[in-house]
Amino acid sequence: MEKEDKFLQSIFHSLWMSMLFGLTENFQSIGEDYFISLCSKQSIHQQFLIGNVVSQDLSEEYEMKSKTKQRYNRIAGLYDILEAPMEHIFSNWRKELLKEASGKTLEVGIGTGQNIEHYPAEVELTGIDFSEKMIEKVRNRTRHHPNVRLLLMDAENMSFNNNTFDTVVTSCVFCSVPDPVKGLKEIKRVCKSGGKILMLEHVRSEKKIIGNLMDIINPVPLTIIGANINRRTYDNLLKAGFIPEQIQVQNLWSDIMKLIRITND
Ligand SMILES: C[S@@+](CC[C@H](N)C(=O)[O-])C[C@H]1O[C@@H](n2cnc3c(N)ncnc32)[C@H](O)[C@@H]1O
Repeated sequence: MEKEDKFLQSIFHSLWMSMLFGLTENFQSIGEDYFISLCSKQSIHQQFLIGNVVSQDLSEEYEMKSKTKQRYNRIAGLYDILEAPMEHIFSNWRKELLKEASGKTLEVGIGTGQNIEHYPAEVELTGIDFSEKMIEKVRNRTRHHPNVRLLLMDAENMSFNNNTFDTVVTSCVFCSVPDPVKGLKEIKRVCKSGGKILMLEHVRSEKKIIGNLMDIINPVPLTIIGANINRRTYDNLLKAGFIPEQIQVQNLWSDIMKLIRITND
C-alpha cells in the first residue's frame, strides 16, 4: 500500500476511535448540562445554581477555552492509544522537526509528551499545556528526564519574559488553541530574536473541494475532540506579525500536514 494511503487509513482509524470515545464523553457532559438546567428550574441546590448562573455570564472566548481544556482533560488518559495508529508515520515527522531544536527550548501544548524522546539530548526543555490531565500524563513520562520543566500555562497568555527561548516547538497544537493569533503572538514574543520556531501542524487544504469539505466537517471534530481541521495557520502567522520571508513551509502530506520553520526577527 502507498505511504499516503496508509497515512489516510491511520487518520480515519484514529478519528473513528476518537469520535467513539468523544461521543461517549459528550453524552456524559450533555447529561451533566441537562442536570444543571433541571437544578436551575427547580431550585434544587442553591450553591450549585449560583456557580451555574455565573458561568452563563462568562464571555464566549472564556467558554470556548474552558470547553477545549475540558475536552483535552477528558481525552488525556486515552490520547496515546487514540493517536497510536498514526504514530508510526508521525514519529518520523517528529524526528525531522525536533532535530533542529537547540538550547533553551519551549514546547507549547506538550500534551502527553510524545515528542520528548525525539529531542536532542542537550536541549533544555520547558513544556507547557493548559490541560491539568495532560500535564499529569507528561509528568509520568518525564520522571527520568532531569532537563525537562513542566508548567500548567495558557499559550495565549504566557508568563515568560520577552526573548526567553532559543527554540519554540508546536506539534498539532494550533488546530485547537482557541485564539490562534493570540497564541502565535505570544510565541513570537517569548522566542529570542534570531531564534527558531518549529511547527508540525495540520491545516485547511487550499484545494477547493477538499478545503470546502473540511469546512463542512469541521464542527464534528471540534465538538467531539476539540480540534479544528480547517485552520489557516499560515494566514494566522501573518496576522500575528511574521512576514513571508521568515516562514519556510514544507508539505509533508498533501497540502494538509506541514512542517513550518520560522526565524524570529
Ligand atoms: C492535539 S494535542 C497535541 C499534543 C502534542 N503536542 C502532540 O504532538 O502529541 C493539543 C494539545 O494542545 C493543548 N492546548 C490547546 N490549546 C492550548 C492553550 N491555549 N494553551 C496551552 N495548551 C493548549 C491541549 O491541551 C493538548 O494537550
